[in-house]
Amino acid sequence: MAGMIKHIPVMLKEVLKYLSPKDGETYVDATFGNGGYSKAILDAANCKVIAIDRDPTVENRATELKKLYGNRFEFRSGCFGNIDRLIEESVNGFVFDIGVSSMQLDEAERGFSFAKEAPLDMRMSCCGITAADIVNTMAENDLADLIYRYGEERKSRQIARKIVEHRHNKPIETTTELAAIVYTVLHRNKNTIDPATRTFQALRIAVNDELTELQNGLRAAADKLAPGGRLVVVDFHSLEDRIVKTLFNTLGGKTAGVSRYLPETPVTKTPLFANVSKAIAPTAEECAFNPRARSAKLRFAVKSATDETNNLENKGDEHD
Ligand SMILES: C[S@@+](CC[C@H](N)C(=O)[O-])C[C@H]1O[C@@H](n2cnc3c(N)ncnc32)[C@H](O)[C@@H]1O
Repeated sequence: MAGMIKHIPVMLKEVLKYLSPKDGETYVDATFGNGGYSKAILDAANCKVIAIDRDPTVENRATELKKLYGNRFEFRSGCFGNIDRLIEESVNGFVFDIGVSSMQLDEAERGFSFAKEAPLDMRMSCCGITAADIVNTMAENDLADLIYRYGEERKSRQIARKIVEHRHNKPIETTTELAAIVYTVLHRNKNTIDPATRTFQALRIAVNDELTELQNGLRAAADKLAPGGRLVVVDFHSLEDRIVKTLFNTLGGKTAGVSRYLPETPVTKTPLFANVSKAIAPTAEECAFNPRARSAKLRFAVKSATDETNNLENKGDEHD
């Protein structure tokens, strides 16, 4: 329904502060969702927003914004990992709000949540392999590795074993069926997060190839940014945040210290990013109002103001 709040934008005030939209400039909202960031950017300045999303179900909302903002708003359907192909224009700021939207989580039939029985799907793009395909076909060891790496689940081997035992009898078809298998290994405790959360996170990351998308999307955005342009990222778990932090520090000319007791080692070449922030957390008020903000972290980077910046990854060999 038009106007109904379906997804509360996370850290919106901070996103606007660090993106700092200005009249006449062009911004990319790489994760359009319900358009919360896009609309706020368009209202903050007489600028243009190009919005990207891989989920075809957001297109109605994009049409609504098009009616409101005309030529100042454009929607491009696709994956932000393809920003190098989706965006040809020079961009003054990119914003990424990583992960799933409330609409995706709340629509049971999308299969992202184990709160309601639904087909085990989890595809943001509504095409390609599903989570059911993975749990019903992947070799036990690979499944255990996937749940360990993407879910940081210590009991991944036992969970993978139970999945394989179950599918010998019948394929795993629904969210609640998978959650019940996880509960045979890890018991539910109302004071801690549901033990199925980590396994579901792992499958969602695999189905949507989320970490590769993030790495490719941020790298391409850094290249497309105009000198002095800003890149703002809101992420929600440690695997994503590690990618953002590492890439920002690398492009900001810092290599991680070999020991946490030693300072970070600056690289002498002019870095692509002039300024890289530390992680910024949402306020307590926002977390109380919107519990989905609790695990959010915002990081931003500002591209060096000169065109002659050294692209560390692409040009490193030319100088060494
Ligand atoms: C957290 S929501 C964004 C919410 C948005 N900021 C708002 O205020 O309404 C994330 C959105 O990004 C989209 N998304 C996630 N990964 C993507 C990718 N690799 N390429 C394009 N869109 C992606 C999802 O489909 C989802 O709609």
